[in-house]
Amino acid sequence: QTGVRVERQPLSRYTTLGVGGEAEIWFVETLDQLREAVSAPYRILGGGSNLVVADEGVPERVIRLCGPLAKADLEPDPQLSTAGDIVTGWVGGGTPLPGLLRKLQGLGLSNLEGTVGIPAQVGGAVWMNAGTRFGEMFGGLHSLELVTPQGTRTVTPDELDWGYRNSGIPRGEIVSRVRLRLRASTPPDVQARMTLADDARKGQPKMKTPGCAFKNPQGVAGKGAGRLIDEAGLKGTRCGQAMISPEHANFIVNLGGATAADVHGLLDIIRRQVPVPLELEYELWP
Ligand code: FAD
Ligand code: EPU
Repeated sequence: QTGVRVERQPLSRYTTLGVGGEAEIWFVETLDQLREAVSAPYRILGGGSNLVVADEGVPERVIRLCGPLAKADLEPDPQLSTAGDIVTGWVGGGTPLPGLLRKLQGLGLSNLEGTVGIPAQVGGAVWMNAGTRFGEMFGGLHSLELVTPQGTRTVTPDELDWGYRNSGIPRGEIVSRVRLRLRASTPPDVQARMTLADDARKGQPKMKTPGCAFKNPQGVAGKGAGRLIDEAGLKGTRCGQAMISPEHANFIVNLGGATAADVHGLLDIIRRQVPVPLELEYELWP
């Protein structure tokens, strides 16, 4: 009814790992189309940079935000902005994060530059509270618009129980748009902080991957997941065409033609051989 484009396609085209079978993809451009899309069982796809999708694909419709829901209005909102905080217009959940950060750098707007190098969409990055030790998404959010089959609500970060790699948004709620909370800086200063955050990625592989497999254990000052997997002697371990990166042990890379089953095989090996329980960071579909 709302004219939404629907196509059956392999999800391997939409994941940074390059793995995943077919699904019905709904290319949603407006809030009306989004409301129609959530009227039957659905999943929401962002940049596909944290996903391991089954080789059989998924039975639910897969929603992809595009068009106006993938654009950013960075004009400060005079009503919401204060002396210290610049609050933007709406930024669509489908907006690619890397391009958004380049624009913010050019405008000399700070708070999100620590997330440089994360190949996500804004909605997916907010859903995970993606970040690095230099900053995370919730460091630059003013409010979020969330869509479910029951309706649409707008919340502020203090209404959510967010933390490390966790937004506290209930599963199934779609981040349709957000407003950013930024601080005035200068383009060179924002660039300098981006370069610092980028430098911390020098040891990460430049291959097809969904980023870090496991979260770093929290609470105890100690070793990260990468170091623990490394100390278990697992760098370079292969399962079919998937491999634990010899550069950084918390990254699984696709050597070309890997399957989801190959990746699951490596996750099992890691769980069996690392003496500390690790919490998965990937999202597994289904
Ligand atoms: P997807 O992978 O498409 O989806 C992930 C989850 O988010 C799914 O559950 C999906 O349903 C949900 N989702 C997606 N869009 C929405 C939406 N609009 N509303 C609600 N839910 C949604 N992560 C870090 O935190 N820090 C890093 O430094 C980092 N570096 C990375 C480097 C590389 C090279 C790669 C490939 C990944 C890296 N990641 C990193 C992991 C990944 O980028 C993040 O987890 C990111 O948040 C995933 O966002 P996405 O848009 O790609 O979501
Ligand atoms: N290390 C090893 N062996 C390895 C990997 C790492 O000994 O194989 C050691 C390093 O030498 C270093 C320590 O572990 O002393 C930490 O490593 P690194 O600086 O690479 O950071 P990390 O904790 O492994 C985290 C995030 C990354 C983020 C980087 C940079 C998690 C799970 N990972 O990695 O996020 O890009 O910091 O800020 O929190 C992601 O979440 O997907 C991700 C890539």
